[in-house]
Amino acid sequence: MKHLLKMADLSKEEIESILDLADQLKYEKKNHIPHPLLAGKTLGMIFQKSSTRTRVSFEVGMYQLGGHALFLSSNDLQIGRGEPVQDTARVLSRYLDGIMIRTFAQKEVEDLAAYGSIPVINGLTDYAHPCQVLADLLTIREKYAALEGLKLCYIGDGNNMANSLIVGCLTMGMKVAVATPKDYQPDPAVLEEAKGNPNFLLTDSPMEAVKDADVVYTDTWASMGQEKEKEERMKAFAGFQVNEELLKAAKPGAIVQHCLPAYRGQEITEEVFEAHADELFDEAENRLHVQKAVLVKLLGDQQ
Ligand code: CP
Ligand code: NVA
Repeated sequence: MKHLLKMADLSKEEIESILDLADQLKYEKKNHIPHPLLAGKTLGMIFQKSSTRTRVSFEVGMYQLGGHALFLSSNDLQIGRGEPVQDTARVLSRYLDGIMIRTFAQKEVEDLAAYGSIPVINGLTDYAHPCQVLADLLTIREKYAALEGLKLCYIGDGNNMANSLIVGCLTMGMKVAVATPKDYQPDPAVLEEAKGNPNFLLTDSPMEAVKDADVVYTDTWASMGQEKEKEERMKAFAGFQVNEELLKAAKPGAIVQHCLPAYRGQEITEEVFEAHADELFDEAENRLHVQKAVLVKLLGDQQ
């Protein structure tokens, strides 16, 4: 594993190995056992979009690993004034040990990896959010002990989260049922890859998708960069809310996951959010532990 650009970059064994290391690092952190596995290493974090969890968890994670993280806003970098990503990649490769980037186009992340000579981590694009899905898998595995055979349903927009969950969960032998409005389906290439898999279902019926689900997942109806479409999206997604009634059709005791930020009263009700707050904030916390594992795998000397 040289980079983490999308979930398809990872095999089942690689995902398991990241989750196992995340468990170990989480245990060590909770028990105040230092783990300076990246002493002297630096990570540049390029942000072309807002972030709370990704920024803070990567920055804190590098510190806990004995390294250093630099927050690089695209407003301040020359990339924001038109310096090509190809040149940025080659310059940053001379200073840093790794780059995390949050941007719009997946191609920009792929170009950064192709032109640079250091590991690149996708911290969210319009197409993918692999760091979030690794944290989700860690959280689900903590709750259920094993992933294989569990059913995850995703209700809402066929966005970066849907794309990455489909690939990640199917890779781990989970069943995935996705319910989106017809005009908001996941990426065609992801669907093409998933369609022959007997563990995959795509529907426009949330009730069909949620049936017997162990995990009910949703995300915002209007992702970063889609602010202008908000009004039409509110109408299109009206029947795609995770609420008490929908949850009744899931398996009793099903957990609820959301990458956050959540918009109560839209994709999830206040009632469901608060009833499942522990699961949702465990999921957010796990961003830290799983990303530390990814950083050690990509930037570390030993792994
Ligand atoms: N889930 C997630 O990536 O959150 P941020 O946008 O706050 O980083
Ligand atoms: N789909 C959301 C995820 C935010 C973490 C977005 O891209 O804005």
